Amino acid sequence: MEKLVIDGGIPLCGKIDLQGSKNSALPVLAATAAVDGISVIHNCPDLSDVAAAVKILEHIGCKVKREGHTVIVDARNACGFEIPETQMREMRSSIVFLGALLSRFGKASVTPPGGCEIGLRPIDLHLSSLRSLGVSVCENGGILECRAENGMKGCHISLAFPSVGATENIILSALSAQGETVITNAAREPEIIDLADFLCSCGAKISGAGQSTVRISGVKGLTGTEHRIIPDRIVASTFMAAAAATGGKITVNGAVREHLSPIIPVFETVGCRTEFSGNEMRISAPRKLTRVKSLRTMPYPGFPTDSQAIIMAMLVTAKGTSVVTEKIFENRFRHVPELIKMGADIRVEDGCVAVIDGVERLHGAKVSAGDLRGGCALAVAALGAAGRTEIDRIYHIDRGCEAIEKSFSQLGARIKRERI
Ligand code: UD1
Repeated sequence: MEKLVIDGGIPLCGKIDLQGSKNSALPVLAATAAVDGISVIHNCPDLSDVAAAVKILEHIGCKVKREGHTVIVDARNACGFEIPETQMREMRSSIVFLGALLSRFGKASVTPPGGCEIGLRPIDLHLSSLRSLGVSVCENGGILECRAENGMKGCHISLAFPSVGATENIILSALSAQGETVITNAAREPEIIDLADFLCSCGAKISGAGQSTVRISGVKGLTGTEHRIIPDRIVASTFMAAAAATGGKITVNGAVREHLSPIIPVFETVGCRTEFSGNEMRISAPRKLTRVKSLRTMPYPGFPTDSQAIIMAMLVTAKGTSVVTEKIFENRFRHVPELIKMGADIRVEDGCVAVIDGVERLHGAKVSAGDLRGGCALAVAALGAAGRTEIDRIYHIDRGCEAIEKSFSQLGARIKRERI
């Protein structure tokens, strides 16, 4: 086990390169299983979740090679269609392998996925959509046996909620379905566009990715390609919040302005200045931040649930009262008791509304990461706090943030990783 030890209070300053997006890399890696060829994926972040995806690819018979941030997947001899529970439980996005395997082999056996405990996270939308495509889904002793051995048939699927994972699974399954599949109320996240870009470059026919209606026309097969994963907009928001919480001034290299459009107004409201020049984004923070009256998480292009904890860590020392409402996941305030240990004044109402009365300053404490983004939030809070903070269970952070201590050290923070 490891922990982060942070001596806070230093305004962050300098330039940092943004890692590739975890939430893009994982579905793209799953999608390589649907390709009868070699996929070369650049800008793949070095994360434990990426290692878990590689393990699944190897388990089903792919040859995988890592060269720095490039992952090369040779799926020509892949033949496995069963993913064991131990591998499924490692992360939520293991469920996206279901669509890739169905598309390639017409069958898949998986178990419900694991991942951060931020809510119930059912997969009913995934399964009902697959059934609409003609997949038979049977639960047998906790294993989901999915079969479409006579092929899938394109259809119209209207999602009750624009689920990111369900949209990805439908796109993947529909690749080999007969005719056209139309998804309405599809998720519009940039990561959906990245997945569709990868697949189209392999020969898929997908239009409308990034919009509410996505059309997929089935094709005979996919061939290998080379693809570069988009930058991680959530990690960008982590660096930005850390700059804001410490009164710093940093440049994030590799940021995509459009992807950050749901969060930039929040930073401007608290008094930060942001400026883009090409793919470099500069952010400078005032001495004291101002509250955000009301912030509510929404599907893209709304404010992202993944940035909620991280932004809250910045708001706890903003002047005035901020109200943050989390409506995407039921259990995404696990960082709140930890922030309170550091001196934050937060009251949770109805389980999903956090009322934050800004305090002058946080102080260091021993805290625990309960999930990935909540853990990043504690690091942000610690960087702005007076004194020393120790964060344990940082394996959560390592699932999505590449060597967080190195990134923040590069920006002048006093932060180190220690064995417990
Ligand atoms: C993805 C992201 C995650 C992000 C989330 C929302 C990856 C690997 N993870 O997760 O970081 O926080 O999008 O932006 O990309 N739901 C159902 N039934 C379903 C599917 C989802 O009720 O079949 C509910 C979930 O419980 C949740 C909400 O829909 O309350 C959003 O989930 P979804 O968009 O599917 O998130 P994920 O794909 O799991």
